[in-house]
Amino acid sequence: MAFPINRARRLRTTSTIRHMVRETVLTPHDFILPLFVVQGKGKGYKEPIKSMPGCYHLSPDMAAKKALEASSVGVPGVILFGLPDSKDAIGSGAWAEDGAVQLATREIKNARPEICVICDACLCEYTDHGHCGIVRENRTIDNDATLPLLARTAVSQANAGADMIAPSDMMDGRVGAIRKALDESGFQDTVIMSYAAKYASSFYGPFRAAAGSCPSFGDRNTYQMDPANSREAMREIVLDIEEGADIIIVKPALPCLDIIKTTRDNFLLPVAAYQVSGEYAQIKGAAAIGLVDEVSNMIESLTAIKRAGADIILTYFAIDAARVLVDKMTGGRAGALMPKDVACNLVD
Ligand code: PBG
Repeated sequence: MAFPINRARRLRTTSTIRHMVRETVLTPHDFILPLFVVQGKGKGYKEPIKSMPGCYHLSPDMAAKKALEASSVGVPGVILFGLPDSKDAIGSGAWAEDGAVQLATREIKNARPEICVICDACLCEYTDHGHCGIVRENRTIDNDATLPLLARTAVSQANAGADMIAPSDMMDGRVGAIRKALDESGFQDTVIMSYAAKYASSFYGPFRAAAGSCPSFGDRNTYQMDPANSREAMREIVLDIEEGADIIIVKPALPCLDIIKTTRDNFLLPVAAYQVSGEYAQIKGAAAIGLVDEVSNMIESLTAIKRAGADIILTYFAIDAARVLVDKMTGGRAGALMPKDVACNLVD
């Protein structure tokens, strides 16, 4: 029936009614916080990351503190990226027993075992050429030679206590190689959260500046996907599921809302979306010069990502967004209700 019987605005009349009919509700449990981990002790708030305001290079002890802070506002997990003291051609720092990621994983699991620790498995932060795989003499990236190194990295991370391994390199066959290696080492319950649909995106710039992982020659277009393609993303996802992926990541998030939606509609596995460094830096930068409001941009973009179908959102805003949501739910009394050192209840 048409106007004036039907009036869509009726359901927008009051804030209470708008809440009642809201289809997408964000909660702190939706988020995963990415952390950049460096070697050493006590390094944190004096090492801000210029390209990503509000993010820091944290030593393992400080990363554990940050993970506890995230957990205390209801964020269930963190994903760790490592910056080694020295790099080489094969990225051997990636599987070092005393690597920053391995040490941080141990510290976090010791401090609060309930925190879900996800380790990003990739070589680009550890190679002197900045590529995600082994470079051949003719400067191509050797897919098959890279697989055992990724598998070795994953096993060392699982050995340190990681709950999940997140391969972000985009080599073919890496999920299968990692699954096999984990199973052979007794880690059959370690989850693989695969960056299945990862685009060669210009939105990763601030991350590469933060991680020192910019390729020293060429680009990542021979392994990451062309942003113009969507069927190819579905094919990548099918392949990763066949190889044993447990959770699918789509990345970046806001430029890929259509891919998130199609993934949600076509597959049964949980879908994660990564709101990447460039998406974060754009909001931070624009807000810093008064062009947009940071909090509403943050909440609106995260809501859109969830509305598109993401079950999990990896975001540098995790703690800030969780605070805003908890404050809303408690009428601003979150601080009093949840002292900083008390974890929000993460069980059902
Ligand atoms: C490593 C990796 C990257 C990101 C996550 N894992 C960089 C890249 O692929 O160049 C980007 C994350 C972000 O921009 O926030 N391969």
